[in-house]
Amino acid sequence: MEVTFRIKRFNPEIDTKAAYKEYVVDVEPTDRVLDALFRIKWYQDGSLTFRRSCAHGICGSDAMRINGRNRLACKELMLDYGNKITIEPLLGYQVVKDLVIDMTRFFDAYKSVSPFLIADEAPVNRERLQSPADRDRFEDTTKCILCAACTTACPITWTTDQFVGPAAIVNAHRFIFDSRDQGAGIRLKVLNERSGVWRCRTVFNCTEACPRDIEITKAIEEVKRALLFDKVS
Ligand code: SF4
Ligand code: FES
Repeated sequence: MEVTFRIKRFNPEIDTKAAYKEYVVDVEPTDRVLDALFRIKWYQDGSLTFRRSCAHGICGSDAMRINGRNRLACKELMLDYGNKITIEPLLGYQVVKDLVIDMTRFFDAYKSVSPFLIADEAPVNRERLQSPADRDRFEDTTKCILCAACTTACPITWTTDQFVGPAAIVNAHRFIFDSRDQGAGIRLKVLNERSGVWRCRTVFNCTEACPRDIEITKAIEEVKRALLFDKVS
């Protein structure tokens, strides 16, 4: 099938503003959007710039706006898009080039919630044990691949840089509700600040955008409740 790609291009070395460029590509219906982007890059325009690594929905590097929705290009099939498709960089962060955005703010927010196990006492001669029920408590938020699709779909992120964003809250949730962790207080303090969870307006854009189907809005609400009732359970 022949598909017209309309891609938002921007090269800071020669452009003063972004502009759309069209490419006609021959694809199989079962090709992924990422395959088509490779075809453009390899056979039509080597200057087209985008991030990708695993090509299998694991590394999270190829999130972009596909027909106005944040998606991983490696998980989207051409047969779901018909003969015209518009590709743009994620919103809210500065564009480095074409579909590549500056992720500094994203990872600064991620780091701010201490996304690692905090446990002072080492277990004696054994692993840190946990019941299946305790593990289930945070199972959903372990699935995050840090693609930024959620945070850049959030209208709060578009209007202020004073919000940690859904991805950082998801990764805080993953440890706050881990029975082996003792750092919930540290993370909840960060998330109780003006840039924390209270900026969330429960728009659900993040949940719609997540390629891992994480119930992000639910996780954010659970963190809010932990703050309100001073209880992690
Ligand atoms: Fe991506 Fe989902 Fe993680 Fe957000 S929560 S960064 S959308 S995987
Ligand atoms: Fe790794 Fe798409 S290239 S998630």
